[in-house]
Amino acid sequence: MYRQIVVLTGAGISAESGIKTFRDEDGLWEQHHIEDVATPEGYARDINLVERFYNSRWENLHSGEVHPNAAHAALAKLEAEFSGKLLVITQNVDDLHERAGSKRLLHMHGELSKGRCPQSLQTFVLREPFGEDNCCTCCIPAKRLRPHIVWFGEMPFGMDRIHDALDNCDLFIAIGTSGTVYPAAGFVDSANHHGAQTVEVNLLAADRHSQFQYHFTGKAGDVVPALVESILAGKTLGSEAATKEMSA
Ligand code: OAD
Repeated sequence: MYRQIVVLTGAGISAESGIKTFRDEDGLWEQHHIEDVATPEGYARDINLVERFYNSRWENLHSGEVHPNAAHAALAKLEAEFSGKLLVITQNVDDLHERAGSKRLLHMHGELSKGRCPQSLQTFVLREPFGEDNCCTCCIPAKRLRPHIVWFGEMPFGMDRIHDALDNCDLFIAIGTSGTVYPAAGFVDSANHHGAQTVEVNLLAADRHSQFQYHFTGKAGDVVPALVESILAGKTLGSEAATKEMSA
């Protein structure tokens, strides 16, 4: 029986909902240069290009065609029914965890549905796409909102809370992340170091250098609901019952 669980999610959990990942074939970073659309320098160079990139993702998220999938729903169920503590840390900027019902959730790379005043750092829910007319209401004169997204070279949000949760968890689950971007890629080491069980859910089989103790290969929408049921039934990984169920 686990007491404290930390879940880290990446783009792979939203792939079955129709949101592109970054590094898979046809992923976002195959079509855009990171330095142009995901750095403060790129934004300073060409605001309009960066705004177009985030506006098109924002429009996709609000198209009515993108919905949480079974993996998001299972994590919300885990939060509602687990007797211990749970924190979901997401690298995703979509709001599919919230739409599924998750509340103990930390968006470490920011949120697509918010803009931020570059002066006061106050955030505003985005009711219309970014542009020169979409400004803050906290400054005079009003400032053009920037995407509330953590760009390369910027500090992710909530690191103190994240480290505290990782230091104290007994199960760490990473779902649908390539483990290429730090600091998130290092969370597994931290959890291992503090004695937690560590498990990865990914479409691809684990490589032999994987830091994770357990690996489940498959779509998040198939694997995560079974994993959640097993945790809620009080089983721990490595116990025969849990392993049998997961590989079924
Ligand atoms: P990536 O695109 O790097 O990795 C997505 C992972 O999800 C890959 O390992 C896939 O094998 C896996 N995957 C794809 N479909 C899946 C499915 N249906 N079920 C399970 N796994 C699946 O995305 P992230 O690891 O999230 O940062 O990327 C990390 C960060 O890099 C992002 O937050 C973003 C990006 O640059 C910023 O923009 C700051």
